Formats: sequence, C-alpha cells, structure tokens
Amino acid sequence: MITTTEDPPFVDFRDVWLAYNDELRAANQFAVEAIDLQVRRGEFIAIVGPSGCGKSTFMKLATGLRMPSMGRIRIDGQPVTGPLKISGMAFQAPSLLPWRSTVDNVLLPLEIVEPHRSQFKARRKEYEARARALLQKVGLGGYEDKYPWQLSGGMQQRASICRALIHEPKMLLLDEPFGALDAFTREELWCILRDLQAEQRFNVILVTHDLRESVFLADTVYVMSKSPGRFIVRREIALPRPRDLELTYTKEFTDIVLELRGHIGALRKTGGEITQ
Ligand SMILES: Nc1ncnc2c1ncn2[C@@H]1O[C@H](COP(=O)(O)OP(=O)(O)OP(=O)(O)O)[C@@H](O)[C@H]1O
Ligand SMILES: [Mg+2]
Repeated sequence: MITTTEDPPFVDFRDVWLAYNDELRAANQFAVEAIDLQVRRGEFIAIVGPSGCGKSTFMKLATGLRMPSMGRIRIDGQPVTGPLKISGMAFQAPSLLPWRSTVDNVLLPLEIVEPHRSQFKARRKEYEARARALLQKVGLGGYEDKYPWQLSGGMQQRASICRALIHEPKMLLLDEPFGALDAFTREELWCILRDLQAEQRFNVILVTHDLRESVFLADTVYVMSKSPGRFIVRREIALPRPRDLELTYTKEFTDIVLELRGHIGALRKTGGEITQ
C-alpha cells in the first residue's frame, strides 16, 4: 500500500466546511465540517456513514457543484472554482432517459460537455464506437439499441456507469450506485468496476452503506460521523489486488468489515464523538 508519494495529492481537501446557506452559516450549522483529506492519483476511496451525515454533500464539494464556506479544495492540482469536467457521476437511481436507446444515453455527456460537444457531429462514429465498446465491456453487448425500460435494474445501472465513464474522466464519483440491486447483481457490478478501474486507473470516490462493498473495492475507507459530518476513521485496506469475490469469505476480510462495523456501532451510541 502506497501511503506517501512524491506527487501532489489528486484530491486535496484542507479544513473544508460547508453550510448550505447564509442562515445556517450564521447559526454555525454546517453539513460537513473540518474535512481534511488527501487522496493520491489513481486511489479508490469509499465513504461510509449514517444517513444524513453529509456523504452526498462531500460529493457535491468534490465535483464543484457546491463551494465550501471555509477551507480549500484542489482536484488534480487545480483549485475547484465550479463544476468539474474531469469527473463522471452515477447515483443510486440510474436516471437514464427513457426516449433514448442505451447507446444514446451513454453518449449524452459527449453531446453536452466541451470539448466533445463542438466535435460531436464530426466525430459521432468514433464516439459511438467508444460507447458500444464500453457497453460490451460491462456485459451489455446486444442491448445497445434497446431502451432503458427494456433493461433490468442492474443493466440500467451498468449503462449509467458507462455514461459516467464515456468522456474518460479522471475521477468517478459513485453515490450508492448499487444500493437498489440484489446481492448477486451487486457483486457482479463490483467486479466490473474493479476491472474498469484496474485498466483505466481513474480515481474513484464511492459512497456506500455496504461495508463489504467498501472493503472489497477501496484502497482506503473513510467513516463519517453523524451530522455535522466529519471523517472520524481512515482505514487503509491492504488486501492485495486483484481481489476476487472469494476474498470476501476470508477471515482477513471479515475482520476488517467487523472493525468498521464496530466504529459505526460506536457512532450510533455516542452520536459521533469517537476518536481513533
Ligand atoms: N440543499 C440542501 N439545503 C439544505 N440542507 C441540505 C441540503 N442538502 C442536504 N442538506 C443537509 O445536509 C446534511 C447532509 O446531507 P447529505 O445529503 O449530504 O447526507 P448523506 O450522508 O448523503 O445522507 P444519505 O445517506 O441519506 O444519502 C443533512 O442534514 C441534510 O438535511
Ligand atoms: Mg446521500
């Protein structure tokens, strides 16, 4: 596990606080507070914590959809000043457009985000080939021209991940992307995500309620305390890669899951005042 590196961190939060509006700010009510986080390039992090603790708020900050009330955020060496083009996002609900075929849904970001937008017409064939290759890779070969309502929930979620990756982002943000899926489909998608990330080396920030998911996929797991959200535990997952699903049945793996569960259990009792 690499913990120190010569490179500057890819994601760099320095004492970041966010209140959602001036009134809350005046009342010192922050949705997240004192967030300090340094993530190296290519690292996969997972964030776990109770509902309402500020996980999605953290994601909004990381992708520039919200500016911090205090502190500073740099991504890929640049201060964040607005919505980032170098990130892709996928959420719990797949949110595909029902009137577009699967491949056209995947192409959507290229029609919207510069520099692709102005080249879209001229490069449509190339872009479409890229979208079809990506769909093939996640096991959706043969479904490219079907509509979202002709796909299962798991298939729709795969298509959403392709859509988040089509513009080859440096950072993929996933907010409970597998929450609505059955256990088998979820594990299948873990492996797809694992393989895509191993191949393309983008950074991942994954928000999840599933501790097994966080330990299986991430290099580092952060536990967030109840509102106002703070990171209270940082746990490196030193399990070697590539990781197979069999790993999830080993003692080494379940010990880490139990340890994280212990932190979250302690949080529930104390309302967040635990230290490492
Ligand atoms: N747009 C908003 N305006 C005001 N307060 C908000 C807004 N969005 C979220 N909050 C508040 O910020 C806090 C953190 O919310 P957030 O959505 O980040 O939690 P979460 O950890 O993602 O929860 P969940 O696990 O349920 O998705 C909550 O108290 C919530 O009420
Ligand atoms: Mg959320």
